[in-house]
Amino acid sequence: MTTIDLPPDLTAGEHERTAPLLLSTDERHRLLERAFIGLYRWYVSRSQVKRNWNADSFVNWREMRTDHSEDVAILIEGFFAVEQYAPDYTSEILRLVRRSHGRSHFQMRWGAEEERHANTWENALLFSTARSPQYIDDYKKELRNNIWTLPWEDPLHMMIYTVFQERATQVNYLNFAQLSRGLAAKPGYEGEADPILERACTILATDEAAHYYFFLEGARLYLYYFPEETLDAILDVVTHFAMPAQNIIPNWPVIAEIIYKTGVYGPREFQRNVIVPVMKNLTVEGKKALEAGLKRSREIPNRDGVLRTSAFWDTFDARAAEGNVVNIFEKIHEYEVLIGRDAIDPTLYVPNPDWPEKSSTFQVV
Ligand SMILES: [Fe+2]
Ligand SMILES: [Fe+2]
Repeated sequence: MTTIDLPPDLTAGEHERTAPLLLSTDERHRLLERAFIGLYRWYVSRSQVKRNWNADSFVNWREMRTDHSEDVAILIEGFFAVEQYAPDYTSEILRLVRRSHGRSHFQMRWGAEEERHANTWENALLFSTARSPQYIDDYKKELRNNIWTLPWEDPLHMMIYTVFQERATQVNYLNFAQLSRGLAAKPGYEGEADPILERACTILATDEAAHYYFFLEGARLYLYYFPEETLDAILDVVTHFAMPAQNIIPNWPVIAEIIYKTGVYGPREFQRNVIVPVMKNLTVEGKKALEAGLKRSREIPNRDGVLRTSAFWDTFDARAAEGNVVNIFEKIHEYEVLIGRDAIDPTLYVPNPDWPEKSSTFQVV
């Protein structure tokens, strides 16, 4: 498994306005870091304007149905359990990326958004009356006896992992929203329509979509400045992916069975609505092609003396990947123009000179 650590000092170096002949590893990290700071600032401003809601007041919880089936109660309990570990998710990832201003500050904002997800599910569980306040209290304690730990111990793998995880969570909530409209994927749940639950699932799915796109942009940046390592990490994550906290939630087997039975999520959903769109958004052909390309590529030394050939270039669309990164820098640039930062300390796009085909015409002036 290839890993990349954050360098000790990400602030060194001057901005480069033209394409250099060679980018050192430190310079690549500096460019990544600068982009993460820009993206994070853009994200916060958008989050505050578009998604500033409170878990207690975005719906009138008193109007929630109190006659849901036990299957729906188990779904709510399951999502409540997963989101209960928000403090672990946040602190563990923060510890890993603390050297990066952009990533660590984003992670705090992300943690606050995940915290309100936990509160939303607690409200849903309480107001559905499917579980007593005492039960919820005891369950919470039981959950918190266990600690969630990182599935990977390096910032690149965790970036890739969160891309897939956020997308998968979004899909779960979108499908639960469908069920709450009385339109479940599987028969037998037509009578479960509940506008309050539907609104809760939808608002959570909107947050998860925003998280997904932030991490996706991060993965695109990594892919551009560290293509070989990022492709390796994508393959690792796709091969070993599991949703968070499943192994530490005591009644997960029961919850997983209901999630599958109701059609909210399962292996088919993972393949069709997670793997396929995420790979496409990363411009990667598919798992099999990626595996074969990376296998072929480990033959002659690369810039760091690791055995490689250029075969990995065949596993993704380099032109599209570059275009994605140009778009990120354009987005950051537009935001910095809006707030005036461009006049003092603009985030500049520096092309990766390793790229086989120079397709970009983007320039920040
Ligand atoms: Fe969440
Ligand atoms: Fe999320």
